[in-house]
Amino acid sequence: MTQVARNVAEWRAFKNATNSELGFVPTMGALHEGHLSLIARSKKENARTAVSIFVNPTQFNDVKDLARYPRTFDEDLRLLKEAGVDCLFFPETHEMYPVSYSYRIEETQISNELCGISRPGHFSGMLTVVLKLLNIVEPKRAYFGEKDFQQYLLIKGMAQAFFLKSEIIPCPTIREENGLAMSSRNARLSSEQKLQAAEIYRNLQSKDSIAQIKLRLTDLGFEVI
Ligand code: PAF
Repeated sequence: MTQVARNVAEWRAFKNATNSELGFVPTMGALHEGHLSLIARSKKENARTAVSIFVNPTQFNDVKDLARYPRTFDEDLRLLKEAGVDCLFFPETHEMYPVSYSYRIEETQISNELCGISRPGHFSGMLTVVLKLLNIVEPKRAYFGEKDFQQYLLIKGMAQAFFLKSEIIPCPTIREENGLAMSSRNARLSSEQKLQAAEIYRNLQSKDSIAQIKLRLTDLGFEVI
């Protein structure tokens, strides 16, 4: 049975019921095969597995993007039950940000590169919520997809820098047959855009020079920076 904890007190009641090893998969919902592979790995390595669903407002630098983020709670809960997850932590925003956003985590190197260039504040919001989640959930192991490799590196670095007790475990990217990395955000792409997005992976697999790959992707309509 999958219990649902909607606040920290309910979560602690679940957590304190036994002291068996706990694996944790933090998510923003709209679950797909990628999330399910993290859950399967956690279930293999821990006596109990918990998942969180929290669409974290502080990691969106565009309010329209936050409003459009896919939210599919009923289907997510069905998938979690089917996967045998023991507890879903599903807090509201005021629960996660009781003192607004005046306390936050800032990383000053890796987060200014790659995705960080076009998403100001994203990684601070992400690190802040992951630290909060790890402090609330206190898992033995926490699982993150390598799809978001920069995110994984930052979380791993934060865990080292702040002596967190949870082990941070990277898991391989799960792809569609055409190579497109599975992502909740793919729900916002048309079938045509999904085919186009798969070209990124296909081209990166090629043995051509970076310059040639850049040119091909630019011809396909991508902005390569
Ligand atoms: O990868 C995600 O889904 C989110 O960035 C995370 C780690 C759950 C933090 O909100």
